[in-house]
Amino acid sequence: MCNESLQKDMYAGGTDTTSTILEWAMTELIRNPTTMKTLQNEVREVVGSKVEIDERDLEKMLYLKSVTKESLRLHPPIPLLVPRELTQDTKVLGYDITSGTRVLINALAIARDSLLWEKPEQFYPERFLETNVDYRGLHFELTPFGAGRRGCPGVTFATTIYELALAKLVHNFDFELPNRVKMEELDVSESSGLTLHTTFPLLVVVSPHTC
Ligand code: HEM
Repeated sequence: MCNESLQKDMYAGGTDTTSTILEWAMTELIRNPTTMKTLQNEVREVVGSKVEIDERDLEKMLYLKSVTKESLRLHPPIPLLVPRELTQDTKVLGYDITSGTRVLINALAIARDSLLWEKPEQFYPERFLETNVDYRGLHFELTPFGAGRRGCPGVTFATTIYELALAKLVHNFDFELPNRVKMEELDVSESSGLTLHTTFPLLVVVSPHTC
């Protein structure tokens, strides 16, 4: 692959996806004030009086890691992953699939399957505190980054950037909905497209956190 094409892949694969997951995580946290408070408490406790948050701090933020997994579960930025084409005939669950067939994996449907997840529609990061299921492609019930040889190579970079951004936001600021908008009025519908955005941008009133 030439350098220019590789660079384009990196930009295309790495920018929209990472900002999308941050937007969904903030949306869910605003809708779930107790979860937001738990996260803020953890981040503020770990960071203490330090001004900057770095990667080493993230390792101590186990609740933040669960928020990451739960955001990626409920809102995988690329819900149908990237199409694959079979290079040879194969059999899956008794079905014959011929070479050349295009296959789409519905990662969103799998991540919201009630046979695999308890209360799948609920944003509940605590579910990940009790399990080692993660998104690196070894647990097929959670594959927002795909799996196998063509799985996303940006997974560590993406989650680190996203977690640093989220930790800094909730550490430094408090958030509320504007003009007395009620929580249940928040529109959380999903747009359609290759990446799954919120239909309407999240609008919040931000105030600096003072200890
Ligand atoms: C939350 C952020 C991200 C998500 C959810 C995501 C998701 C994905 C998915 C689902 C695939 C297809 C995997 C498959 O078909 O099995 C993919 C491929 C890819 N991603 Fe990401 N990605 C993210 C961030 C990034 C970043 C930050 C980079 C680079 C800096 C990146 C670079 C790539 C590249 C180059 C591919 C193509 C890999 C190949 O075809 O071999 N991604 N990504």
